[in-house]
Amino acid sequence: MADVTKITPRMRQPADEAPTERPVRDRTGATRFAEAGGFPRTRMRRTRRQPWTRRLVQENHLTVDDLIWPVFVQEGTAERTPVRSMPGVERLTTDLLVEAVAEAKALGIPAIAIFPVVDPALKTADGEEAYNPDNLVCRAAAAVKRAHPEIGIMCDVALDPYTSHGHDGLVRDGYVVNDETVEVLCRQALVQAAAGCDMIAPSDMMDGRVKAIRDALDGEGFERVLILSYAAKYASAFYGPFRDAVGSATALGADDKRTYQMDPANSDEALREVAIDIAEGADVVMVKPGLAYLDIVRRVKDAFGVPTFVYQVSGEYTMLKAAAAQGWIEGDRIMMESLLAFKRAGADAILTYSAVEAAKRLKQE
Ligand code: PBG
Repeated sequence: MADVTKITPRMRQPADEAPTERPVRDRTGATRFAEAGGFPRTRMRRTRRQPWTRRLVQENHLTVDDLIWPVFVQEGTAERTPVRSMPGVERLTTDLLVEAVAEAKALGIPAIAIFPVVDPALKTADGEEAYNPDNLVCRAAAAVKRAHPEIGIMCDVALDPYTSHGHDGLVRDGYVVNDETVEVLCRQALVQAAAGCDMIAPSDMMDGRVKAIRDALDGEGFERVLILSYAAKYASAFYGPFRDAVGSATALGADDKRTYQMDPANSDEALREVAIDIAEGADVVMVKPGLAYLDIVRRVKDAFGVPTFVYQVSGEYTMLKAAAAQGWIEGDRIMMESLLAFKRAGADAILTYSAVEAAKRLKQE
């Protein structure tokens, strides 16, 4: 059992009690000390003047080790289907996915996240296809694992690709029910682990699911499988293009996920979500979406110091690509700047649809 008492936010040193001659941090985190008498002796631009000093003083770095590539898999062979609302992103059949992962692997990308595009005929109110051991995501994960055993595979646990209503859980009397959903999520996690998935990533936001999934995995001998919890996942409009990509947008219609995903207005609540998931056994926690939630990434990393990932979601990707396609912004530079911003905010790794492009750029630098 995890020790809940250990999961308290780190203590902050009160600025007033620290000796004043040493650099101390004030409430905003800014360093406060005499700057060599101030301007003109202090000139911040000295360290910025030349590339070599800029390199030496650089505080945060983005490397290929930070990237996880989310991919969409569809049924069939030798077919790629562009995702209308995500320029440059394609749904791939498993054979092409295996080829694409070879490229990602060659670039040094450590892991991928596989999302299935489920045949509408297989979608049901209770999403039974989610725990079919021979479903699309299981076959894809197994094929990728066979071809590329060194690359990490992450699979979402949530029912939305499989439900006719597009919700992440079971709906009873118009409400997404918690406990019954958790039982189904455990079954989904087990078939994915059996297929070769290395990181089970509950993205459903049901209460108590991390503990239940950990118990289920351990009970079946999958104690080495990681749990990456979408711990602070917000009810966000930034997921729009993703729902288009996996085909859950039509199912969900005008409905939203606000009875289980977090209110974008809340920040303290994210810390509670994360604390609970760590206590329940999450190995890694995630904040999602990314750029609009950097404050949450920073708070989570500061408070808990656990592996913290961030998801640059579909809407973020699409906004960038759409503006770049118009020639209105420098797409590549903004992409790299955004990814670096996640590192600066404290993220250990980033899920990004730009992972392959970013890895290529990092290689050129
Ligand atoms: C499924 C899931 C979603 C995303 C990842 N897993 C959509 C949602 O919760 O509606 C979004 C990813 C993205 O927008 O890129 N629960």
